[in-house]
Amino acid sequence: MAILEAIDIIKQYKRAGHTVTALNRASITVNEGEFVAIMGVSGSGKSTFINICAGLDTPNAGSVMLGGRMITSLYGDELTQYRGKTVGFVFQSHKLIPHLTAYENIMLPLHAANREFYKHEERFKLLVDSLDIRNRLGHLPSELSGGQAQRVAIARALIHYPRILFADEPTGNLDRKNADEVISLMLELRDSLKQTMVVVTHDQKTADRADRVYYMEDGFLIEKRR
Ligand SMILES: Nc1ncnc2c1ncn2[C@@H]1O[C@H](COP(=O)(O)OP(=O)(O)OP(=O)(O)O)[C@@H](O)[C@H]1O
Ligand SMILES: [Mg+2]
Repeated sequence: MAILEAIDIIKQYKRAGHTVTALNRASITVNEGEFVAIMGVSGSGKSTFINICAGLDTPNAGSVMLGGRMITSLYGDELTQYRGKTVGFVFQSHKLIPHLTAYENIMLPLHAANREFYKHEERFKLLVDSLDIRNRLGHLPSELSGGQAQRVAIARALIHYPRILFADEPTGNLDRKNADEVISLMLELRDSLKQTMVVVTHDQKTADRADRVYYMEDGFLIEKRR
């Protein structure tokens, strides 16, 4: 079943008198439990596209159905709330809060959603053990390696049971070994949690392990046949 269906997304930016078309009728369908990769050269529109799919940005035209709701028709608090419970997001830089410990960072989405902690105890244990960060929980982000920080960011993105995880070049700042490890862990979580994942990547090895791969070319998405 499709959990994400974006149709004919158009996004334009006005810049110094002329218009830049970042997305030109980009469409994607992602089914529940899939690990889908999006590749494409720098500037082709990948980040713009997943931001729109995640409800972090709005298109000029086109529609996004996410988890059964048309998020392109949601605005303000309603959009913020729906996005908050439906979406997890991981960025290239971990974006952890510097003065909070790994534990506090992971729990942050629950604070924001005003959810009660005890119900998440099991989820927390599972994520921390799967991502092998149990012995780093009391540390600040500055005391973590790049790979560890990104694994903490993934735990934070998944703690509130989002229906879909978006990741924008999650291994872009990591060396080969750490990148492979993070992708392996994400694939394991996809299997154990049946977690749907949409991952933007420049890394062919990551794309090779995805269920399906799309290429962004000048703001248009093409599914790669294999
Ligand atoms: N806020 C903005 N204002 C103006 N132009 C923008 C803005 N954000 C993105 N663009 C332009 O839209 C196009 C697509 O950018 P985007 O960041 O989505 O590409 P990308 O595929 O993610 O690139 P990269 O691989 O380098 O991350 C580029 O031409 C970019 O300059
Ligand atoms: Mg980008």
